[in-house]
Amino acid sequence: PAPGWSIDADVVVVGSGVAGLTTALRCEASGLRTVVVTKARLDDGSTRWAQGGIAAALGEGDTPEQHLDDTLVAGAGLCDEDAVRILVTEGPDAVRRLIATGAHFDESAEGDLELAREGGHHRRRIAHAGGDATGAEISRALVEAVRARGLRTVENALVLDLLTDADGRTAGVTLHVMGEGQHDGVGAVHAPAVVLATGGMGQVFSATTNPSVSTGDGVALSLRAGAEVSDLEFVQFHPTVLFLGADAEGQQPLVSEAVRGEGAHLVDADGVRFMVGQHELAELAPRDIVAKGIMRRMQELDAEHMFLDARHFGAEMWEHRFPTILAACRAHGIDPVHEPIPIAPAAHYASGGVRTDSRGRTTVPGLYACGEVACTGVHGANRLASNSLLEGLVYAERIAVDIATSRGADDLHARVPAPVEQPRKPAHPLLAAEDRFAIQRIMTQGAGVLRSAGSLDKAAGQLQRMHTEARDALDENGKTAEPGVDTWEATNLLCVARVLVTAAALREETRGCHWREDRADRDDTAWRRHIVVRLNPDRT
Ligand code: SIN
Repeated sequence: PAPGWSIDADVVVVGSGVAGLTTALRCEASGLRTVVVTKARLDDGSTRWAQGGIAAALGEGDTPEQHLDDTLVAGAGLCDEDAVRILVTEGPDAVRRLIATGAHFDESAEGDLELAREGGHHRRRIAHAGGDATGAEISRALVEAVRARGLRTVENALVLDLLTDADGRTAGVTLHVMGEGQHDGVGAVHAPAVVLATGGMGQVFSATTNPSVSTGDGVALSLRAGAEVSDLEFVQFHPTVLFLGADAEGQQPLVSEAVRGEGAHLVDADGVRFMVGQHELAELAPRDIVAKGIMRRMQELDAEHMFLDARHFGAEMWEHRFPTILAACRAHGIDPVHEPIPIAPAAHYASGGVRTDSRGRTTVPGLYACGEVACTGVHGANRLASNSLLEGLVYAERIAVDIATSRGADDLHARVPAPVEQPRKPAHPLLAAEDRFAIQRIMTQGAGVLRSAGSLDKAAGQLQRMHTEARDALDENGKTAEPGVDTWEATNLLCVARVLVTAAALREETRGCHWREDRADRDDTAWRRHIVVRLNPDRT
């Protein structure tokens, strides 16, 4: 439908987690007219749920070089070393600027930052807040700063598609907004720079640590706009997610890596520490190795879950250091002070995403991507714990600098950001809202922690049938689901699921968080490279 309202701006930031709000604040500080649009409320994204913290070489004796080494090892041969170097060298100052923006991190009695350890880190370098509520504190501080600076925000705004001008340059986005007064219904923000900071796609699987809004919207939009997407097969499964039953669906409570960082043990039902002897760091090995260790033990014992035992922390430490996790466990009838916590891996983080360079530019001029939606190259085949908030911060600042300087703020103001009439594309066949659950089941069975050529082939066929049926209904009688957040979300999930499955089937090896049952080894001869996908934007 034609937009019913519009806003003109220099930059539109889509998403309101650490990446989006940091970009927006820095753009506004550079004098750019900045609008933030977000699918739910400002603090409803993944950032708020981050527990462990934010990694940076801030501790005595630690250096960016050591942080770089740990990141490259975790990334299993596929990190872009230059991108990682930027992350680890610019990281410490970016964290200090976040603190200056108003985020309070936990400190020792002497006033130094308290630093924790997590999987894959050889040092204590994770700054945290409220014990295990780091993301909530970052979100609070950034939302407050955005409000204090009077930034223009539109909530309940689902992004639909990218607008482009006659030269194929970005000219803004279309949005579907509900319940926001003058900006209700389908509208547009016209702007020559669009920053996607829409977060991840964990909802493509049945059980995930991600909130319900993480439906791959930014990746799907980018694919429709003809941007390149990379590394989608590398979905990280967090090793320790509270096990609420084999049929549990939707967002599941995370039990932070930091719990293992403080000395919790992974054990089976007999109390055996099965990670000891599997890796020099045992429970603190990189995340993919721990997730695989847990899955293997579950298979050997035909068990639905393993346990995380931290009874030895005692009540005081649990209450002081991990209040969020303690409350979540107790809400589900488990008391970690007195009993081991049942855990199993669940989908957690998309290491891949929309391909960008070191300034956050995608392959479509004027379109940027930042945070989990982006693939800057820092994560390779497996993200190092607590590098994600850091990536959001560091690359947000680089994007703001690029927008403000590369074309010049004055130049941006002078440009009339009006899109030409868009080329006629086939209308989107929208899926029914309930298709979301079918996609999740197909993906969990066929493309979850453990994959094979057979399971991926079956998933690809099921997803293709779903797409064809929706496409045929549209072609034959113009029938499509009613446009709305839930139908767009299902449609976006199908779009990213199909590309994810294709990439996972192509990558005939096991590397990082991509685990192929039928290709047990890493193959550096054939596969030390990336799978990059670009769709033809004239086809849906
Ligand atoms: C956690 O606290 O375990 C999550 C940290 C992360 O995903 O980086």
